[in-house]
Amino acid sequence: MKNEQERTGAETAELHVGGKPMRLVLEEPTAGDRGINIGRLRSETGLVTYDPGLANTASCRSAITYLDGENGVLMHRGYAIEDLAANCVFLEVALLLITGTLPNREERKQFTLLMNKNSMLHEGMIQFFDNYPENSHPMAILSAMVVSLSSFYPEIARFNGDLPLDETVTNLLSKMRTIAAFSYKKSIGEPFVYPSHKLYYCENFLNMMFSSPVADYQIDPVVEATLNKFLILHADHEQNASTTVVRGVGSSGTNLYASVAAGISSLWGPLHGGANQAVIGMLEDIRDSGKSIAQVVLQAKDRSNPFRLMGFGHRVYKTYDPRARIAKQTCRDLLTHLGISSDPLLDIAMELEETALADDYFREKKLYPNVDFYTGITYRAMGIPTNMFTVMFALGRLPGWIAHWLEMHNDPEQKLVRPRQIYVGQKPRPFVPIDERS
Ligand code: ACO
Repeated sequence: MKNEQERTGAETAELHVGGKPMRLVLEEPTAGDRGINIGRLRSETGLVTYDPGLANTASCRSAITYLDGENGVLMHRGYAIEDLAANCVFLEVALLLITGTLPNREERKQFTLLMNKNSMLHEGMIQFFDNYPENSHPMAILSAMVVSLSSFYPEIARFNGDLPLDETVTNLLSKMRTIAAFSYKKSIGEPFVYPSHKLYYCENFLNMMFSSPVADYQIDPVVEATLNKFLILHADHEQNASTTVVRGVGSSGTNLYASVAAGISSLWGPLHGGANQAVIGMLEDIRDSGKSIAQVVLQAKDRSNPFRLMGFGHRVYKTYDPRARIAKQTCRDLLTHLGISSDPLLDIAMELEETALADDYFREKKLYPNVDFYTGITYRAMGIPTNMFTVMFALGRLPGWIAHWLEMHNDPEQKLVRPRQIYVGQKPRPFVPIDERS
C-alpha cells in the first residue's frame, strides 16, 4: 500500500500511538510555519490535540496577511505594512484586504462615493443612543449598534458573501464610523454631527467627533494623516483573538454584522485591543503614584503579582512589533507638530521601554512594546478621550474582520467551528434526589 507521501506527493510527519505509526501530511505555506494536518487524528487514533489558547493551531488557510513574529515582518496581500502606512489612505488598504488588490484612482473614487452614500444611520437607530446611561463605555454601544444593523438593514444582513462589495461591506464600514463618533457625542452630552458627503473617510470622522453646531472643526491635515496611519496599522493582524471570534461566529452561518459585533466584544478585553486604554491607565498611575520606573518593572517581573506591563508582549511577535515602531515615530511627529514639547506620559513610556528592553526578564521572554504602547498617547494628543481608544482600534480592524469573514465564508474547507475538549469533571455517579442533598 502506498504511504501518504507517495499518494499525495506531500511530505509527512510520523506519529506513534500505542506502537502504531500514523502518517500525517504536512501543509505547505507560501511563507512561514508549515502545518501538520491532523484531520484524521481522532477517527484513526481516538486522540484529540490539547492546545490552550490555540497557540500552536492553524485554524484555517488564509491569503490575507503574513506575519513573521521572529523577524518583525507584517504584510497584507504581499505588501509591507511600512509601505502601506507611508503611501495609502485607509480605504485603499481596506479594499486591498477585502478584494485582494489595491484600487486604482477610479476604483478608490467610486468606493469613497459609496462610503458617503452609506454613511447615515437609520433614524430609528439614533434614538437608541438616548437610552444608554451616561458614562456607558463606547465599546458597549458600538457592539450593540453594530449587531442592530442586522435588524435595520435585514436585506443586507442576508448577504451570502457572493455579492459585489457595494452594499453590506460599505454599509458596515461607513456606518460603524458614524456609530463610533455618535457614541462619543452621546457620552459628552453634545448633539450628533452628521456625516458629510464633502469629506473623506478620516476627515469625516474627525468632523463628526469634534465639530459642533456652534463651532466648526478645522481639520488639521497632520492630525488627519496620523489618524489615517493608525487605522492602517490596525487594519488586520491575521488570526488574532477578535478575528478568530469573527470567523468562529460566522462559521455557524451568522451574518456579517452579528459576527463583527462579537469581534468588537473580543477586542474590548485588556489583553487584546483594550490594552491601549490600559496603557494610559498604567502610565497615569505611574505619574500620579510617584513610583520609579525601576519599581514598576520589578512589579511586572514578580510572578506573585498579577501586574503586567500593558502594551508589552505579544503572542506572535518575539521582537519589536513593526507597527509599534511606526506608531512611536508618528506619535513623536504629531506632538512636535502640535507644539507639545514635552508630554509626561510619553516621557514615562519611553523610559519604561528603555528600562524593560535592557532587563534580562524582558529580553529572555522576548517581550517588546506592541502596537498599543504608543497609540494612546497619540490619541490623547488628538483630543480623543481614553474610553474611545479601543473604538479607534475597532474602526481600524474592521476591514480585516470583513476580509476574514468573507474568506471563511468562501472557503470550501471551512467547517462549523466546534473544538473538542479534555474532560476533567466528575465520573458518572448516582443521582441524588433534592431531599437527600446535604
Ligand atoms: N509584562 C510582564 N510579563 C509578561 C508580559 C507583560 N506585558 N507579557 C507576558 N509576560 C510574561 C508572562 O508572565 C509569562 O511568563 P512565564 O513564562 O514566567 O509564565 C511569559 O511572559 C509569557 O506570557 P504569556 O501570557 O504566556 O504569553 P501569551 O502569548 O499568552 O500572551 C499577551 C500575550 C496576552 C499579549 C501578554 O504579553 C500580555 O498580557 N501583554 C500585556 C497586555 C497587552 O499589551 N495586550 C495587547 C497585545 S497586542 C494586541 O492584541 C493588539
